[in-house]
Amino acid sequence: MGNVKKIAVLTSGGDAPGMNACVRAVVRTAIYDGIAVFGIYSGYEGLINGEIMPLHRRSVSNIIQKGGTFLKTSRSESFMHAAGRKRAADMLREWEIDGLVVIGGDGSFHGAHALYQEQNIQIVGLPGTIDNDIYGTDLTIGYDTAVTTALDSIDKIRDTAASHDRLFIVEVMGRRSGFIALEVGICGGAEEILVPESQLSLEDLGNLIKTWASAGKTSSLIVIAEGDELGNAHEIAEKLQKKYHTLCHVCVLGHTQRGGSPSATDRMLASRLGYHAVKALENGKTDIMVGWANNAVSFIPLPETWEKKKPLDEELQIIYRILSS
Ligand code: F6P
Repeated sequence: MGNVKKIAVLTSGGDAPGMNACVRAVVRTAIYDGIAVFGIYSGYEGLINGEIMPLHRRSVSNIIQKGGTFLKTSRSESFMHAAGRKRAADMLREWEIDGLVVIGGDGSFHGAHALYQEQNIQIVGLPGTIDNDIYGTDLTIGYDTAVTTALDSIDKIRDTAASHDRLFIVEVMGRRSGFIALEVGICGGAEEILVPESQLSLEDLGNLIKTWASAGKTSSLIVIAEGDELGNAHEIAEKLQKKYHTLCHVCVLGHTQRGGSPSATDRMLASRLGYHAVKALENGKTDIMVGWANNAVSFIPLPETWEKKKPLDEELQIIYRILSS
């Protein structure tokens, strides 16, 4: 063990299933290694306000299966400014905390990097977001569960779409990326998948819809990522109605995708990364994300996680059209 004697953990940004399992792994690994652990409530906002509590082995009992984050989370406006980050660092110093584990997405990582740069706080980030949009890790904590949740809804929509011979547009989350949409679309047998990473014009979409009817399809499904440039599901439905007189039913899955008990894949990932985050702090690592890539743990400098773009699988974008034809 190095010089690390006290660490703290927080969850930040949108909650994701598996965050609790991850906090549990951080707490128990640290205690096993003789390090005291503190939980920071409500993300960076709570850190600035000194919402810090010691955590013990039993503090994280019976949470591995729970969705959300018992530490709570926030998107802190104050932490976006240097003054807020200074207050946060002062708080960590006051509590004599040597290292911080931040579980969150790219906004949280921007904040973590700034805190390291300006205040020299030892920081390790863990990818916790349903969006899976973080470079350097094949999966983010929460993504697998969100896909399963969305797929469950899509299967149900297909039943009613088939019964009424309807066209549905289903909007999934993902902010500016199409990972959830692509996977859910393929697994749900969607006719078309609209993602921000590739552009399809309204005209192309209109023509595609015509081909489905002539191919004998009586019902169909379009999955769209919320960040698509063509618009959101309601806007596209309106445009298709105006231009082609196509009647589309719309379903926006929204925050249902963020809740629920984490899948086995998410619990495994969370447990593994929580363990490695503590080891990374003990080994003196800082300003990095600990991820999982090519079946091994990965250590990525925090700025790379947002400066480099994680690509969508191009082949899958071809495959789904062939399979749904
Ligand atoms: O980043 C996770 C996410 O659920 C995105 O998919 C979505 O765009 C955003 O958070 C919604 O954030 P909020 O819950 O703050 O509206």
